[in-house]
Amino acid sequence: MVDIYNGHTDVYGIIGNPIEHSFSPILQNTVASAMSENASYLPFRVDNDNVEAAIKGAYALGIRGLNITVPYKKTVMNYLCDIDDTAKMIGAVNTLKWTENGYVGYNTDILGFGKSCDINGIRIKDKKVMLLGAGGAANAVSILTANRDAEKIIIVNRTKEKAEKLKKLVLSTGYSGEIKVIGYSDIKNNAADILINATSVGMGKDRDNSPLDGYVDTDFLNNVSYCIDVIYIPWETKFLRYAKECGCKTVNGFDMLIFQGIASFEIWHERHIENSTAKELRDSLAKYFIEVSGGQC
Ligand code: ATR
Repeated sequence: MVDIYNGHTDVYGIIGNPIEHSFSPILQNTVASAMSENASYLPFRVDNDNVEAAIKGAYALGIRGLNITVPYKKTVMNYLCDIDDTAKMIGAVNTLKWTENGYVGYNTDILGFGKSCDINGIRIKDKKVMLLGAGGAANAVSILTANRDAEKIIIVNRTKEKAEKLKKLVLSTGYSGEIKVIGYSDIKNNAADILINATSVGMGKDRDNSPLDGYVDTDFLNNVSYCIDVIYIPWETKFLRYAKECGCKTVNGFDMLIFQGIASFEIWHERHIENSTAKELRDSLAKYFIEVSGGQC
């Protein structure tokens, strides 16, 4: 007898393509169970041509909330009744909440990064933050950094135009600190308290590389307090390994993943999860994630 679900169970899910490797079903079902919600969360692989039909169908079925992942975080914005200001500013939605008028879109990546900083004791106010990368992941990180009043934000990117566009986005938040764009060869001429890798270097085909390769020496990293990576597969990137060897405190991208998910849960259920509970959930999910990945992560 399976009696976890019944006629009152609320259904949630995630839409993307591919979706098979998503950790969100385990994350959301674990959080729902820990918070005693009668809810179930499933993955849905949706083809490009079917995004509109999927959103309309999910709404008709009364699916209470959805996460949206690659490659639909922008496309989905066409099918919502409202979009919150932060998601509008970032230009991407990763969370939909069912309302009487349609789905409302949110972006919880900023909240997730903020909570990751809070729980790891990372203070951004009045700090010099250096951000590697200017893609989607860098958007949320840079806006949170601006919102928390960093003294200075240094954006490092291969493609200068993308970095300049990100700088404009940060300035549109009303950020009044210093912000500049540099290339990798200039990193060593700048100082940073917090260094964040928001590039894809360190995972997939670039697993054995670090974005810092050939650009900095130990002296540079000795003066950095925290190194943060948005990557969590592998669990410790070359970037973080080297940073740790140089005495920096390190945080990988798993915390951002978990806390953006917890922020989605909070929106859907209109409940607040205390930091102490969020941290416990993070710890048990991390243990599980490392175990099931068989040391491959
Ligand atoms: P995401 O949404 O995950 O951030 P993205 O939008 O494709 O992905 O952005 C990837 C980021 O990684 C970009 O900042 C990219 O730099 P460019 O804008 O110059 O392309 C960066 N990146 C990818 N490969 C890189 C490499 N080999 N060296 C340095 N930066 C790299």
